[in-house]
Amino acid sequence: MTNTASRAWSALTAHHQKLGKKHLRDLFADDPGRAASLSLSFEDILYDFSKQRLTPETFDLLFKLAETSSLAAGIQRMFNGERINVSEGRSVLHVALRHSSAPFPSAQMDVMPDVLSTRKRMAEFAEHLRAGQGQGHHGAAIRDVVNIGIGGSDLGPKMVNQALRAIAHPALGVHYVSNLDGAQMAPLLQTLDPRSTLFIVVSKTFTTQETMLNATTARNWLTANLGDEVNLEHHFATVSSKPERAAAFGISPERVFPIWDWVGGRYSLWSAVGLSLMIAIGPHAFDELLRGAERMDEHFRTAPLARNLPVVMGLIGIWNTNFLGAASNAVLPYNESLKYLPSFLQQLEMESNGKSVGVTGGPVGSETCPIVWGELGNNGQHAFFQLLHQGGRLIPCDFIASARSDYPLPGHQEALLSNCFAQSSALAFGKSEDEVRESLEKELVPAQQIAELLPHRVFAGNQPSSTLLLKSLTPATLGALVALYEHKVFVQGAIWGINSFDQWGVELGKAVASRILPAFADPSLAAAFDSSTQALLAYCRKQS
Ligand code: F6P
Repeated sequence: MTNTASRAWSALTAHHQKLGKKHLRDLFADDPGRAASLSLSFEDILYDFSKQRLTPETFDLLFKLAETSSLAAGIQRMFNGERINVSEGRSVLHVALRHSSAPFPSAQMDVMPDVLSTRKRMAEFAEHLRAGQGQGHHGAAIRDVVNIGIGGSDLGPKMVNQALRAIAHPALGVHYVSNLDGAQMAPLLQTLDPRSTLFIVVSKTFTTQETMLNATTARNWLTANLGDEVNLEHHFATVSSKPERAAAFGISPERVFPIWDWVGGRYSLWSAVGLSLMIAIGPHAFDELLRGAERMDEHFRTAPLARNLPVVMGLIGIWNTNFLGAASNAVLPYNESLKYLPSFLQQLEMESNGKSVGVTGGPVGSETCPIVWGELGNNGQHAFFQLLHQGGRLIPCDFIASARSDYPLPGHQEALLSNCFAQSSALAFGKSEDEVRESLEKELVPAQQIAELLPHRVFAGNQPSSTLLLKSLTPATLGALVALYEHKVFVQGAIWGINSFDQWGVELGKAVASRILPAFADPSLAAAFDSSTQALLAYCRKQS
């Protein structure tokens, strides 16, 4: 549970009362060196958190809280391979997936031989396809790869694939199907040639309903289109920890890539779950992605708390959630290639820390994960930013941008970045009544109209944000960025005293769905459900 009875927590509560609603305008006026002192950099990432509503003293107190919560020891326990995922009795070793030397985590429990041999097999498979040597029907070269998976078996590779599309193989199409809704799979199949299509079924458990149904539909589509001569083994590969289930589905053992129980789905893009990504960007770029993440891992493991990016980022979130009372956190990328980052981070953060029961089974005793949401920043400006500016809710924001563009069109990048910087500035500093009056007077607006307009035109400001500015969107920088967020989640889980690596909360809905499904075919089964579910089923029956 969260150590809310600790002196560190009480000191933060008192500090919050003292700091009160002190405005960012005043915090900046008080300290001209604020931007320099409240920012950190790691390789090609600049992390500016000077627009957060805190002071250096806040950090001193937050570091004490981290010490009280044994954060440093917790980090070492993860890197040592201890079974910190207690409710599932598992180690948490996604960091091994980007580690480059053996043994790791220890000579007694060295997972590196499996990791490295799998990465080698992935690279051979990917190179083969990229060279046009992957054979589909009657020797046709594979031209399209479809990743069938959901959650962690979809969001990570899809997000990075989109982020790095500027370096993707020009002739291979890589697609992602996750949804049970046929509206995703059916239109995609219309664009594909079954002779030259490979499906990669990505499912750690090889039981996930969405993935199994989409894989079965893919198999039926191949058989329907290629007839008796179809060799399904040429059209399927899989990533799973259950090879026997993949074999029963008809996937050849040479095309089964393993994943291990010490990798959580939402932390798995670095494993064979990233096979579709490696096919798109090539083994070399995939390796750079891993190296970027590995360097962030090393930074997280060794840097002192005050210069440790994931620690600082995690503690800022604790301050915003537990002391300022923010219920959500917006992720706003100013880079079209990062359009799937908000949904990736939603799973990473909310599936990890969206819990109210602590590691030992008791109530956590404090708020935990905020609601993570977001959208491409520039588009969001013309949609929901109104609420950020004048809705009156406290919503901390992460602005994420790259200084250089992969698609430089004249005038675009500067305009994009100026909007990004303008938004964080406007959110922080707002526009006071005096400033609004002055500008309306300059526009020669009559006094009566000024009085009427004034309340509508005032911006309270004091909305906290951080800006993550990347030099450019390279595989290494992106690897470091994703690892940064992964470790931030770890830091917050440690402070809240929760297990960030299980996800029991997703089970109930799955079980109920499997009970409802037969009621579509057999209406007599509907009587077992509540009246709302019965009515919904009855409505659907009338439409069919
Ligand atoms: O339902 C949630 C979840 O278990 C996620 O944690 C996971 O990433 C996803 O489903 C997919 O699971 P699998 O890889 O076993 O199909």
